[in-house]
Amino acid sequence: MRLVFIGFGTVGQGLAELLLAGREKLAGRYGFDWTVTGIADTAKGSAYDPEGIDLARALALAAKGEPLAALDRGGKGWDGFAMARHAEADVLLEATYTDIKTGEPATSHIRAALERGVHVVTTNKGPLALHYRELAALATAHDALFLFEGTVMSGTPVLNLVRDTLAGAEVLEMQGILNGTTNYILTRMEEGLSYEDALAKAQELGYAEAVPDADVLGWDALAKVTILANVVFGAALKPSDSACEGITKITSADIARAKAEGKRYKLIGRVWREGGKVRAAVAPRLVDLAQPLAGVMGATNAVAITTDALGEVTVVGPGAGRAQTGFAMLTDLLTIVRRRS
Ligand code: HSE
Repeated sequence: MRLVFIGFGTVGQGLAELLLAGREKLAGRYGFDWTVTGIADTAKGSAYDPEGIDLARALALAAKGEPLAALDRGGKGWDGFAMARHAEADVLLEATYTDIKTGEPATSHIRAALERGVHVVTTNKGPLALHYRELAALATAHDALFLFEGTVMSGTPVLNLVRDTLAGAEVLEMQGILNGTTNYILTRMEEGLSYEDALAKAQELGYAEAVPDADVLGWDALAKVTILANVVFGAALKPSDSACEGITKITSADIARAKAEGKRYKLIGRVWREGGKVRAAVAPRLVDLAQPLAGVMGATNAVAITTDALGEVTVVGPGAGRAQTGFAMLTDLLTIVRRRS
């Protein structure tokens, strides 16, 4: 399977490390053999080689901050869009930064690949929150797969779980902690760290978005509830249709007061049906310490899925991080391997 990376930052490199570490197991257990034919990154430059790029060397160059062009054979100097359009590839791995307002440049990369029948795996929330229907229809029209497990709760199964394992059940409501950075910040503030130090640590650990405003103002969780509303509930919501509040107004004193009262602040995302419509919202809520969501700490996420057939099914697991989000892309790649065979 020929792979092309667009975006070779935290997530792309996380996937590359998993592909290299698991090479023999992936081939032996799942029949998944891969070659990387292209990598394009706005900061690191690009490399294209239809015979295959040495991925370990690409990781080493990225770690040293050296340009990827050293691995290029063909002298094309393709940017992400040209790579998506022209590279010999079976799967485009889109892991550029999320822009929830425009969905670009990721949406253009995804369109260019799908239009020529190249499968797409992405962790990018912008294109999904803004253009899910159009992109899904484009994929169907060109007989390509469009998979995006990592957009919600990183590698913790949610979208694939609902699509595959919970097929046959009606999802009535989803509610939970969908942003790792803010849950990490609230956890560390309760331990005594300042807001600024906790945010800096979340950035260092690779949880935060490129512009962390997207996390702390709730936009990242808003993108995720919009994705759930549109993908799971079949709605056609835009992020701007839903109320959204982040954690920036919560002070250390608020957190201490809540704790003294047996409560904890959590940033809660919710999707539900009301009067024949699908609604979504993001807001900080005081959760009683006796409730399960109160015990979800650090960058861990959780979502309670209310269904007709099973009642409530709750998934708890990593919500952000390099290997964790890279893993989501790996699970989507293995879905493509299974469908192709
Ligand atoms: N910034 C996001 C978070 C990354 O903290 O949850 C995962 O989508």
